[in-house]
Amino acid sequence: MNVIRFADLVAQGRVRGQRVFIRADLNVPQDDAGRITEDTRIRASVPCIRMALDAGAAVMVTSHLGRPTEGEFKPADTLALVAERLSQLLGRPVPLKAGWVDGVDVKPGEVVLLENCRVNKGEKKNNEELARKMAALCDIFVHDAFGTAHRAEASTYGIAQFAKVACAGPLLAAEIDALTRALAQPKRPLVAIVAGSKVSTKLTILQSLAKNVDQLIVGGGIANTFMLAAGLPIGKSLAEADLVNDAKAVIDAMAARGAAVPIPTDVVCAKTFAADATATVKAARDVAADDMILDIGPRTAGALAAQLRAAGTIVWNGPVGVFEFDAFAHGTETIARAIAASDAFSIAGGGDTLAAIAKYGIEKDVGYISTGGGAFLEVLEGKTLPAFEILARRAKG
Ligand code: 3PG
Repeated sequence: MNVIRFADLVAQGRVRGQRVFIRADLNVPQDDAGRITEDTRIRASVPCIRMALDAGAAVMVTSHLGRPTEGEFKPADTLALVAERLSQLLGRPVPLKAGWVDGVDVKPGEVVLLENCRVNKGEKKNNEELARKMAALCDIFVHDAFGTAHRAEASTYGIAQFAKVACAGPLLAAEIDALTRALAQPKRPLVAIVAGSKVSTKLTILQSLAKNVDQLIVGGGIANTFMLAAGLPIGKSLAEADLVNDAKAVIDAMAARGAAVPIPTDVVCAKTFAADATATVKAARDVAADDMILDIGPRTAGALAAQLRAAGTIVWNGPVGVFEFDAFAHGTETIARAIAASDAFSIAGGGDTLAAIAKYGIEKDVGYISTGGGAFLEVLEGKTLPAFEILARRAKG
């Protein structure tokens, strides 16, 4: 994908003294007291801000936080604690500015954080007047918020239409490069793991990947529906009987291309959904009417691990079992360690997947960990994200 890259503008000396507006995704989880519980997205936004400051720009950064009501700023909507964390990470004060749409006072070498952009009226509907005002604040608009790349809002899309220059920041560029390497030009075999509780939430992803990948590993409740489609008993496991035909269609589409959806041959069952439930390994065909499947079995996990070790590219979204309960975590741990040990280029994304990566401490062994939730899923669905579309259009001039 051809987009203008901020790093290239810096290298060409086109940023010094310029007003740079960075749209970051600083939408971090907070506890009931408003404290930040996980700051990955803030840390991931730092390289772009540093790049702009080091290049001598006057730097404005903004983000949304949560889903506030437009025009009704409430204390819970503030980016104040984000500004504090950003100052610690940058080692310099980061003043927070409210009411910034009509003008921002910032000098070259300085950075300011602009209060929650989703409180501005017209933000979500990509209001043109608002987008033009934001575009007028800067010489260069930098989109560095992959987490919002699937949204066409005034601070993510409209501003990119109207700013003098619109480009991708280093985080967005890294996401584009990793996704291109994984899905557009993959080294084969390309293996995808799509797991989660429901086929319905990931059906379009399964259908889209079925056209591209060589192995489509399904896990969690999704695998149960596929087991049903393969004529296997699943007892009282979570599944969607009404989607069995869709699952069959995915299996058939893969088979028609000489590709496969590996169906578990053994599973780990329990009689109740609880951390202390007794875990019993069974052959898939022996699942009893009162069993719940909570993980893939060791034989299945071993076979999938072998496929992952031999893969050229791996795309991972979703744990294959209830990995929060140790007795049902072996499948996900085996998959995670196989990905870590594989020479394949791997990309992982989604909240549960990131939690599994953290649990097994394999962050450094995954090729790329996406910062996007919904945006990552939409790419897997085969959609063109609005951010990619507008930045590619602006790169054409
Ligand atoms: C996210 O948390 O996935 C992004 O920040 C996007 O947030 P949104 O779903 O509220 O647009």
